[in-house]
Amino acid sequence: MASRAQAESAGQGFRLWPGLLDRAAQEALRDAVFARARQAPFYIPRMPKSGAPLSVRMTNFGPLGWVTDKERGYRYEPMHPETNRPWPDIPEAALALWERLCGYPAPPEACLVNLYEGTAKMGLHVDSDEEAWDAPVLSISLGDTALFRIGGVLRSDPTRSVRLASGDVMMLAGDARRAFHGVDRILPGTSSLLPQIGMRGGGRINLTLRRVTLPA
Ligand code: SIN
Ligand code: FE2
Repeated sequence: MASRAQAESAGQGFRLWPGLLDRAAQEALRDAVFARARQAPFYIPRMPKSGAPLSVRMTNFGPLGWVTDKERGYRYEPMHPETNRPWPDIPEAALALWERLCGYPAPPEACLVNLYEGTAKMGLHVDSDEEAWDAPVLSISLGDTALFRIGGVLRSDPTRSVRLASGDVMMLAGDARRAFHGVDRILPGTSSLLPQIGMRGGGRINLTLRRVTLPA
């Protein structure tokens, strides 16, 4: 882990640590993700009601995973929707980042893993399916750089674009926890971290750590 990592403060509750994970830490986390994805494969999530596929593929680690499907919509579930098995555990390195950066009195329960390939993106949304809205969301980026967009608590609030590169760690806390955000696109060829596993020309993996239930 890079000791020179600097926290960059930009707006209420939004924090970015560029390059917090050095190359060796990125490789170790990538390997931990792919090892778990053999047990809990990336699958195609679907929008509530329409059943339209999202362009990212997803899996989860931890006791709870965020899922969406046509019939039952957005929610957290303890089992993978296709294997019906519990999600694998959250990689230790990710838990350690949560402890070090978040200052929250309980561990995360969900680690959503988004896989962006080709033209995959994510529309503006608020993470609002958690009871524990007092807990930050911690995001770890691996692979190609994302053009991330973040605005305010209203969809009509002005937004700005932030580049998230491999090894960057970002926190949404306070006001930013309720802010609209999304991913406009991935910049292909900006990282050599993810050359394999059926990825055409790299791609990006994002892990978000979330506390779902209120701690007792
Ligand atoms: C998300 O909002 O769940 C993912 C954001 C990202 O991929 O950086
Ligand atoms: Fe989100």
